[in-house]
Amino acid sequence: ERGTVAVQALGSGAPRIMGFLLPPSSQKTVGLRSALEIGVTARFRSTSSISSYSELARERSKTVTSFYNQSAIDASAEKPSVRLTPSTLLYAGKSPDGSHILSSAKYLHKELPVRIAHRIKGFRSLPFIIGCNPTILQVVSSFCCAFSLLLSIKDQDTEARYSKLVQQLLDDHKDVVTMLAEGFRECRKHIQNEALIRNFLDTTLTSRLGIRMLATHHLSLHEENPEYVGIICRRLSPKKIIEKWVDFARRLCEHQYGNSPQVRINGHVAARFPFIPLPLDYILPELLKNAMRATMESHLDTPYNIPDVVVTIANNDTDFVIRIADRGGGIPHSIMDKVMDYHFSTAEQSTQDPRMSNLFNTMTNSGPQSGPMHGFGFGLPTSRAYAEYLGGSLALQSMQGIGTDVYLRLRHIDGKGESFRV
Ligand SMILES: Nc1ncnc2c1ncn2[C@@H]1O[C@H](COP(=O)(O)OP(=O)(O)O)[C@@H](O)[C@H]1O
Ligand SMILES: [Mg+2]
Repeated sequence: ERGTVAVQALGSGAPRIMGFLLPPSSQKTVGLRSALEIGVTARFRSTSSISSYSELARERSKTVTSFYNQSAIDASAEKPSVRLTPSTLLYAGKSPDGSHILSSAKYLHKELPVRIAHRIKGFRSLPFIIGCNPTILQVVSSFCCAFSLLLSIKDQDTEARYSKLVQQLLDDHKDVVTMLAEGFRECRKHIQNEALIRNFLDTTLTSRLGIRMLATHHLSLHEENPEYVGIICRRLSPKKIIEKWVDFARRLCEHQYGNSPQVRINGHVAARFPFIPLPLDYILPELLKNAMRATMESHLDTPYNIPDVVVTIANNDTDFVIRIADRGGGIPHSIMDKVMDYHFSTAEQSTQDPRMSNLFNTMTNSGPQSGPMHGFGFGLPTSRAYAEYLGGSLALQSMQGIGTDVYLRLRHIDGKGESFRV
């Protein structure tokens, strides 16, 4: 029985659960012993008899239950998550004997299963039609798998072994956002309640960001870099990180449109303060790609004479604001209240629909580091969810006919007022 469970937990989730809906003869997923029994009973009993069906159902639910590690997940999902402020992360960092790494591992060892159990619970409360989607099922099974692997680490295991597992899980889960985008795109048409999808994706994506920040923080504590404590950069320069993503977005843009707008950066260009670059590494490329795409597509007649994108940095002792202003024609009134919806995109009207080309495949294999300019309709909603998770906001001002201003506001780690928690 045990062997069966382990093998199942590693495979893809879809056929197993769908097996529920299949006739017994096509059931490949029950253990060998029970498969034989089913074969025998099916031959001698009428399959229409209610008792045999309920027996079969019970037999199958046994394997499914153990696959889901039900009781352990339920127990963990009951526990509250312990969210840390970045200053806790910052000041718990660096003791010469390395004890900070051990205490970080101890915290994670307790915390990660709880957070993952909350996510699994979230998936379970989704409408059946979404839960049946093979891509969504695959994501759920990867969360369940992560849960059991994390629980398999015992207190007496070494920190090195634990870190290795954490790194492996980070790698294994890197495509989850793309998979969720794809899975929901297929089945959301069956769902009347848009708010349900938005709430689920907001919670799942931000909580995933939190989990990844904690995990990456722990792993980075091992690195010797005087500028960093874990994932916190002691003196982050907004200008520098903006420039990094401008280069990236311009290269993508040039690849697709043959040219790209210049980007001017002004305001508090010399500002430096402690901050976590990780969420900016997601949000900035998305916003810059949007601004550049709008600029190029509103100047298709004059691709070598295009207006600049202007980025302004404003820093104060509570928060900092990054405004990205383009002259890409603005967001039309008719779609203004849709652009923040997950999956809303005008990509199909674009001359460069990425879903028509093999660029799509590169997107599914990687994060925002590569991939097309647009197409999933996840850039704005995900960026806003991340900003709000970090106690900030993302706001749009469209000057229809001229261009768009996007305001990204983020709270300081060590500023006035209450800090966010990871
Ligand atoms: N700066 C902008 N100027 C004009 N339209 C924009 C801008 N940013 C976003 N949009 C519109 O909002 C839509 C959704 O953006 P996003 O969530 O990033 O998804 P995607 O880029 O994949 O389409 C875009 O398809 C586009 O129509
Ligand atoms: Mg976009």
